[in-house]
Amino acid sequence: MQEEFEQPDVTQPEVTPYQLIGGDASIRKLVDRFYVLMDELPEAYTARKIHPADLTESGNKFFDFLSGWLGGPQRFVEKYGHPMLRRRHMPYAIGPEERDQWLMCMKQALEETVEDVNLRDFLYAQFVQIGESMRNRGDNIQGCCH
Ligand code: HEM
Repeated sequence: MQEEFEQPDVTQPEVTPYQLIGGDASIRKLVDRFYVLMDELPEAYTARKIHPADLTESGNKFFDFLSGWLGGPQRFVEKYGHPMLRRRHMPYAIGPEERDQWLMCMKQALEETVEDVNLRDFLYAQFVQIGESMRNRGDNIQGCCH
C-alpha cells in the first residue's frame, strides 16, 4: 500500500526572508528609517556626504534591490540589470569609516523596524559581509588588484 504524505520540496524553501520581514511595507519602513538616520545622525556624516543631496532615489533603488535580494519581486534587476554592487559603488570613496557609519545606521534601522530578532541578526550579518565587500579604500582591499 502506498503511503500518502507530502514530501517537503527541499529545493523550494517555504518562507523567504521577504515574507518573513513582512513584504513591501516592511522593507519600505526599513529603508526610510535607514536614510533618515544617515541624514540626521552626526556620527554618520562621512557616509552621508558621499550620497546625493536628495536621498529619494537612493531609497527607491535600495528598496528595489532589497525586494529581490530578500526573495521577493526582482525589481532592481528588471529596471537596472544585474546589481554588480561592488562595481556600482566604485565611483564613491568607501573606506572603513564610511562602511562602519553605513552599518551603524543599518543596525539601528533594523532594531527599530524589524521585530523578529533572528531575522534581524541574520540580515545584519549579511549587511556586514556585503558592506565590507563594498569597501574600495583602506588596507587589504578584497578582490582589488590581484
Ligand atoms: C559599506 C557601506 C556602503 C556605503 C558607504 C554605500 C554608499 C552608496 C552610495 C554613495 C551609493 C550611490 C548613491 C545612491 O544611489 O544612493 C550607493 C548605491 C547603492 N547601494 Fe550602497 N553603500 C554601502 C553599502 C551597501 C550595501 C551593503 C548594499 C546592499 C546590501 C548597498 C546597496 C546599494 C544599492 C542597491 C545602490 C544603488 C546602485 C545603483 O543603481 O547605482 N550598499 N551606495
